[in-house]
Amino acid sequence: MLKIAVCVSGGGTNLQAIMDAIDNGTITNTEIAVVISNNPGAYALERAKKHGVEAICISPKDYGSRAAFNEDFLRRLDSYEVDLVVLAGFLVVIPEQMIEKYRNRIINIHPSLIPSFCGTGYYGLKVHEAALARGVRVTGATVHFVDEGTDTGPIILQKAVEVQEDDTPEVLQRRVMEQAEWKILPHAIDLIANGRVSVNDGRVTIAAR
Ligand code: GRF
Repeated sequence: MLKIAVCVSGGGTNLQAIMDAIDNGTITNTEIAVVISNNPGAYALERAKKHGVEAICISPKDYGSRAAFNEDFLRRLDSYEVDLVVLAGFLVVIPEQMIEKYRNRIINIHPSLIPSFCGTGYYGLKVHEAALARGVRVTGATVHFVDEGTDTGPIILQKAVEVQEDDTPEVLQRRVMEQAEWKILPHAIDLIANGRVSVNDGRVTIAAR
């Protein structure tokens, strides 16, 4: 059984997709040990509680320094003894010591086809604003392992989504969520839970069933 922690900061629609996928069997062999948010007002925390999943809030604002937050964040994460950390719209920089300790065991969902529209400053609606400004015909989402860079870790899954003529950033964001994020994030978790994902020299291999 894969034990996971899901880290959130906002509405939690990706968390909801994961919980629903576990309930309907799209994700197998997996349990959510804890949902962690830096934002006490995140609706994602409500979603977790409604689902009977333990939810805690750990915010850098509650610590005298980032170093103190980083140390306590890692200590509290370790206490749940999870196999995988899932960043589902988590807007806090992951401490380097956590990346090292959980090497290739932290995954993130990014709302573009990396390496487009990613890296520092590309998050939330900003990603879709940039895609529309560039005039791309196709965008999408990416699930990747987290390394020391920003959106630079080994890519696990991607899914393309069409951009339509009259799209606003909000409309495009919703389509990317519905058609890509909420599908590939649960799929990636199920692949990992069933031992089908490996990383060699920074490249991901997905084993056949
Ligand atoms: C999603 O668009 C995701 O791609 C990005 O942050 C947003 C989180 O949305 N990383 P939600 O909290 O899962 O609804």
